[in-house]
Amino acid sequence: MDLGDADLYLSAERYQRWREHTEADAVLWSGPGTSPGGFWSVFSHEHCRSLFAHSAPFTSEYGMMIGFDADHPDRSGGRMLVVSDGARHARLRKLIGPFLSRMRAVSMEDAVRREIRTHVEALCDGEVHDVATGLAPRIPAAVVCEVLDIPVGERDRLIELTNHAFGGADETFDKMTPSQAHTEILYYFNDLIARRRRRPGQDLISGMLRDQGLSASDVVINCDNVLIGGNETTRHAIAGCFEILGERPELLTLLRERPEAVHPLIEEVLRWTSPAMHVLRVATEQVTIGGQEIAKGSAVVAWLAAANRDERVFPEADVFRPDRQPNKHLGFGYGPHVCLGAALARLEIRLLLEALAELTDAVVVPTPPVALRSNLVQGRRSLRVTVTPR
Ligand code: HEM
Repeated sequence: MDLGDADLYLSAERYQRWREHTEADAVLWSGPGTSPGGFWSVFSHEHCRSLFAHSAPFTSEYGMMIGFDADHPDRSGGRMLVVSDGARHARLRKLIGPFLSRMRAVSMEDAVRREIRTHVEALCDGEVHDVATGLAPRIPAAVVCEVLDIPVGERDRLIELTNHAFGGADETFDKMTPSQAHTEILYYFNDLIARRRRRPGQDLISGMLRDQGLSASDVVINCDNVLIGGNETTRHAIAGCFEILGERPELLTLLRERPEAVHPLIEEVLRWTSPAMHVLRVATEQVTIGGQEIAKGSAVVAWLAAANRDERVFPEADVFRPDRQPNKHLGFGYGPHVCLGAALARLEIRLLLEALAELTDAVVVPTPPVALRSNLVQGRRSLRVTVTPR
């Protein structure tokens, strides 16, 4: 079976499959298909973590998702943070990290709260709203605009382009396909970089430009990393909050009565939704995982969403437990590449849950959500909700 086949992830049957593979500590081979050279898959929490350890003999430089391997490398390898290793990776991480840090999240809190409240208030009109295409993508896009300090008058355009480029929608926007919208964003970054060269600020682009070792295209590539990393994942955790609240209405009361309950709840949202379904590495030497020999140069996929339902680490893994502690989910990955935007993602989810608890009485999901067709991003293509204001 080609585990890269996106159709396998359209139905809830995937959880049953993942459970079987996880319990068996399976290490499975998918022949050439969605990935030209084929790839190994690991599922258990322990196996997935073993791929990410600092000393693990694996590289990200060929790419970090199904489709890339040693013979078909990602062209950004060694230049984009998430697909670079060693000293180059450490340098980029040190450069980009402060712009996405916990401190940065604190400084953005008021602006993000305002943005989220405006969107939640707009939902409170008794109408049906598709949050998967409406509210959910706009919040992370607004946060990335803050990080890059996009001029206010240009934000709506960039947010719409981002929504179209990564929204999973088929419709055309401004006569553009999603990939044309993505190209348009890269042109926009190029133009913004020229402006920041002339007038530097305190934002991520100006920070990267101060590093003499980075070319303009390196800066574009890493803006794109932050844009994709920040949008493609967080939007699905945000939409997931609505789905969870639709199924578990008592959580809104819990948040009102015990506001501190939001912290374990955020972690359970991240485990439960697991928007980054997998990450990929390539073995730099022969290695054995779970008794299976893996040759140097082979691609290995860690199914994070499966590991996040590993019963040995998460008792009653198929139950959403708002107070689950400890909660060592791998939603943000682990090891040297662990998500650099985690503090911002947690901020967005917290402020959304707080706004919903304060402003709404109930979230109803009137029709079944529509799954996104993807082997990489776990989420919804459509999630229609009605919200009752308080
Ligand atoms: C890395 C997931 C939000 C920026 C990662 C990785 C995962 C992940 C699994 C590791 C990739 C690997 O090991 O190859 C998520 C999830 C998010 C989220 C589930 C939301 C729920 C964000 C946000 C930003 C961001 C909001 C920025 C605004 C990044 C960056 C990296 C990264 C720059 C690369 C780090 C490195 O390679 O050192 N993310 N992410 N992410 N993420 Fe996130």
